Amino acid sequence: MNNYFSIQDIDSLSDWLKEAIEIKKKPLANKTLGKNKTIGLLFFNPSLRTRLSTHKAALNLGMHVIVMNFTGEGWSLEYEDGTIMDQGNSEHVKEAAQVVSQYCDVLAIRAFAKLKNREEDYREEVLNGFIKYASIPIINMESATGHPLQALTDAITITEYKKTNKPKVVLSWAPHPKALPQAVANSFVEMMQKMDANFVITHPKGFELDNKITKQVPIDYNQENALKDADFVYVKNWSSYVDYGKVVSNDFSWMMTKKKMELTNNGKFMHCLPVRRNVVVEDKVIDSENSIVIEQANNRTFAVQLVLKKILEKLQ
Ligand code: CP
Repeated sequence: MNNYFSIQDIDSLSDWLKEAIEIKKKPLANKTLGKNKTIGLLFFNPSLRTRLSTHKAALNLGMHVIVMNFTGEGWSLEYEDGTIMDQGNSEHVKEAAQVVSQYCDVLAIRAFAKLKNREEDYREEVLNGFIKYASIPIINMESATGHPLQALTDAITITEYKKTNKPKVVLSWAPHPKALPQAVANSFVEMMQKMDANFVITHPKGFELDNKITKQVPIDYNQENALKDADFVYVKNWSSYVDYGKVVSNDFSWMMTKKKMELTNNGKFMHCLPVRRNVVVEDKVIDSENSIVIEQANNRTFAVQLVLKKILEKLQ
């Protein structure tokens, strides 16, 4: 594996999940694997979990860590080739990626969708620009269209908590005051298609994800119907893919409530965090014993540590 760009870079999910759970038991077992290696973390957007869990995982492997917040601190980058750069952007990704490749052995990047132009976002110009011009492995810490570290975390968490071989997993859209990208939902949908799960998506009409990603996954527009007998309820907001980047409806009746969770098979509540309480999910749900969001966030470290371990093994 050269880059961890999407979950399609996972060659054997079952092996990866076993290894991640082993790493969780002994996080310092490979504490010299990354000795004298440096990871650069580039953030074009805010983060709590991704930033700290990636830093922590790198430290667990003995790496040095350099962090840079591009917004407000870095030069504004140009991604188009052949552009006459007489407007706002000061540096081309062609130089930036090559320069960073001299300072680091591995690079991890967070660059969200701008939600203005679907084609532009789905081209993944930031991640693909760095992949094109960097000479070191690149890890996606949430790009315009995917959050594969989160999806790997979610798979680890479901594997740890599941009580049947094929649990029912429901991805339930939630209201939110701001337009959010589809990245987390996209990667979760891809991951559930790789896992042995009875997977259903529920959302109001108008919030259909890219059908190249959802493929044959059933979509139930009736949330209460979808939640029946669910073992895991993954709640997430995303803005419209069809009417791109728009909050086409903000139906607050879609908030996850204790009453709705009673329809499930004593289901576990999951969310990638950060979450807006009493908008996305009722306090009574996120504070219940069936909420596994804190352990889910804990697993972020072991997901990224597994990815880093695989990259470092190839660099030896
Ligand atoms: N879930 C997640 O990626 O959290 P952060 O945005 O805080 O990194």
